[in-house]
Amino acid sequence: MEQANETVQKKNLFSAIQPSGSITLGNYVGALRNFVLLHEQYNCLFCVADLHALTLRQDPAALRRNSASLIALYLACGLDPEKNIIYCQSHVPEHTELAWILNCFTYMGELSRMTQFKDKSQKHADNINAGLFTYPVLMAADILLYQTHVVPVGADQKQHLEICRDIAGRFNGIYGDVFTIPEGYISKTTARIMSLTDPTRKMSKSDAEDSYVAILDAPDVIRRKFKRAVTDSDAEIRYDPENKPGVSNLLSILSAVKGTTPQEEAQALAGQGYGALKEATAQAVIDTLSPIQARYQELIKDKEYINRVLQEGAEKAHAIAFRTLRKVYKKIGLYQV
Ligand code: TRP
Repeated sequence: MEQANETVQKKNLFSAIQPSGSITLGNYVGALRNFVLLHEQYNCLFCVADLHALTLRQDPAALRRNSASLIALYLACGLDPEKNIIYCQSHVPEHTELAWILNCFTYMGELSRMTQFKDKSQKHADNINAGLFTYPVLMAADILLYQTHVVPVGADQKQHLEICRDIAGRFNGIYGDVFTIPEGYISKTTARIMSLTDPTRKMSKSDAEDSYVAILDAPDVIRRKFKRAVTDSDAEIRYDPENKPGVSNLLSILSAVKGTTPQEEAQALAGQGYGALKEATAQAVIDTLSPIQARYQELIKDKEYINRVLQEGAEKAHAIAFRTLRKVYKKIGLYQV
């Protein structure tokens, strides 16, 4: 009984990653790694945002592969499907159904101000589709369907969370308290990992391959990428993100995977060359990723298990989403039988 009470009081947490391209070391350190223990505090949903991926043209076989791969990665990083709802966005029809409704409560003006839309339409000028424009509305539906209290978001998604809050507030203002208004969740222990080739920018899977380490990169690839990482010409190992972004990023990565601080690592390496820093960082990253890669290789072979996780996840997600959508339909006056 006590246990049941505890479950009721837990807040809801929603997170999603798009199954496009490789998941990076930045995603791991900044997000995935911290997801494992969240279920103790929250009812967690971890979603593969395959519908969002369609806003850029996808090769069907690659999209299918990447979706299964992302599920295997979630599991390989230690997410327990018994304790979390792990599922694929397209398996739960309520996402697109609620997105349509929310489209009617979102203004063209607010969507036009989204910096990601502006960036992506510049990058993909030949395919500025309506989905790219309404992307934040689908994201709002993802979040609001589950009465989400907290959403772990990086800086690049903050504006999307803001518009989600605006849409929810607008809807609640008209129809009463239908949606929980979500808050952003910033983990205190999260290190911000920057690009290896331009350490003033965040490490991103949509940039050139040499700029990021993918979770599934082989050890020799990881070594090569760190060898080529940008540093500077003054040859002193010191943590100073403002003046020494490259060296500081390597120290951040090294300390993030070792669970130390960048300052401690700088001290330990003081007097040595950048080669030693790069080698130490590469080795520490390899040591961290190897067990995950081994688990991943096992999981990705077991399609039956992955499918079972997905099926059960979709059922659990649907049960919650269905309730919210019914309530919305009722409130706005869609005739229900
Ligand atoms: N747009 C997010 C990204 O690209 C992925 C995403 C989709 C998401 N739906 C979400 C993130 C809901 C948080 C909540 O990173």
